Amino acid sequence: MEGTVVRVAAISGSLRRASANTGLIRAAAEICRESIPGLQLDHIDISALPLLNTDLEVDGGFPPAVEAFREKVSAADCFLFASPEYNYSISGPLKNALDWASRPPNCWGDRAAAILSASGGSGGSRSQYHIRQVGVGLDIHFINKPEMFTKAHQPPNKFDDDGNLIDPETKEQLRKLLLSLQAFTLSLQGKPANSQQQGIN
Ligand SMILES: Cc1cc2nc3c(=O)[nH]c(=O)nc-3n(C[C@H](O)[C@H](O)[C@H](O)COP(=O)(O)O)c2cc1C
Repeated sequence: MEGTVVRVAAISGSLRRASANTGLIRAAAEICRESIPGLQLDHIDISALPLLNTDLEVDGGFPPAVEAFREKVSAADCFLFASPEYNYSISGPLKNALDWASRPPNCWGDRAAAILSASGGSGGSRSQYHIRQVGVGLDIHFINKPEMFTKAHQPPNKFDDDGNLIDPETKEQLRKLLLSLQAFTLSLQGKPANSQQQGIN
């Protein structure tokens, strides 16, 4: 049905100013605005979250930054994780965010998600499969394809010095991944895909 708005909460696993992963999220937001009707993407900043410590939970309440983050996660229809691989695994900031919003009641459950990674030589594949593993416990349902592994530091240049995505091929991969996320989210919600979402792979 035309007109159904799917809200994507996009989370970058890098806190770096010129992060390529945060750049992928900015590019994804622009692609949604310009060419994917019905997909609204908001970047959820995780830099203010304290390191997980359950002593900070008082009478079932969370610190204000955690509470605000949990509300944004709960309000989303689906998630986009864009994260570097650090030492063959998930970035610490992203794992911290996943853990905070998993505290009861779990805020992630029964929603669709897609993963991006701009990383070194592996393109981040090992981190992506670890994110999928964590998502099993959180009841997140990941799209299987397309997979997207961006080798951020290999030619041709894909990002400028501020981390903005400048590579047309990567933008096209990103557009296909976003269409897949939109279609899978609507299907999980029992809503029909619109005409643009049909026939993608
Ligand atoms: C502590 C650390 C560990 C890293 N480990 C890996 C790794 O295991 N595999 C990989 O492909 N890149 C690795 N990298 C490279 C980063 O993934 C890469 O620089 C990425 O672009 C950083 O993301 P950002 O640009 O969004 O900040 C590592 C970087 C750091 C700082």
